[in-house]
Amino acid sequence: MHIFVEIGPLKAYLKHQLTSHFSIGLVPTMGALHNGHLSLIQTSKKENHITVCSIYVNPIQFNNAADLEKYPRTLEQDIRVLQDAGCDALFCPGNSEMYREATRLKFDFGSLDKVLEGEFRPGHFSGVALVVAKFFNIVQPDRAYFGQKDFQQFKVISTLVEELKFDIQLICAPIIREHDGLAMSSRNVRLNTDERTRAVVLSQSLRESRDRLLKGESFSAIKKFVMDKCIQSNVRLEYIALADRENFSLLDNVREPGRGIILIAAYVGEIRLIDNLFLTEN
Ligand code: PAJ
Repeated sequence: MHIFVEIGPLKAYLKHQLTSHFSIGLVPTMGALHNGHLSLIQTSKKENHITVCSIYVNPIQFNNAADLEKYPRTLEQDIRVLQDAGCDALFCPGNSEMYREATRLKFDFGSLDKVLEGEFRPGHFSGVALVVAKFFNIVQPDRAYFGQKDFQQFKVISTLVEELKFDIQLICAPIIREHDGLAMSSRNVRLNTDERTRAVVLSQSLRESRDRLLKGESFSAIKKFVMDKCIQSNVRLEYIALADRENFSLLDNVREPGRGIILIAAYVGEIRLIDNLFLTEN
């Protein structure tokens, strides 16, 4: 695997691939890689000649200084994992390579970044969009791979690609879960044993909400049920919401199950976790 910390050599390598008419798949990550990330690498490897993974803990998408400081960083282990997975190139820049000066560029995605993650993490999606736009310009991939785990992020990036006319196909891959249903996340390693056990309440709440909703129960009654369930598990619920997965408008009931998504965010101890479920998913 080729490892690049600077943009120039990475571009030279990619130019060489392009002259061979090789297709390029990009998997942007913040590292502390787990099987969710690896599923994106594997899908990219199947669909492209060359797979590039980026690992960069992007400071401007964090709206909580402690979260940024404590974000797990395991670069040496990540390199081994990527090598074993057959990833072709890794781009792991430092802050000065990505941001030469304090950046002033901001994105506004309208209603999409005012609700849920956008509401509870102001500025987060603007920071995500800026770094992803930089990666798209640097790598110029044919395809870029993201997880349904951050589905609102996927919608933001889809809007970015449409608005800025990036010629890139976006792929949204399913959520990879632990055996008990907890969605894999780099932040899970920060949970202690007791918190790890309690964290299952997120995915359980999603599944039970989905079942109740499809049986005709109102979403306001379901919200109450989830709030109680979280209190019992000593988990601080930030939101549980039903949304239209095309435009992210918040809903009180389902008209078209094929467009419905239930999303949850909650603190287990100090760790903020998110998860979601399409209404039509198993
Ligand atoms: P990160 O949290 O490292 O996630 C990188 C990619 O892996 C994202 O597209 C995310 O949705 C996906 N992913 C995370 N957990 C997953 C799981 N359990 N199953 C499947 N896919 C999963 O998301 C980011 O980094 C950053 O915001 C980034 C896009 C890299 C911009 O900085």
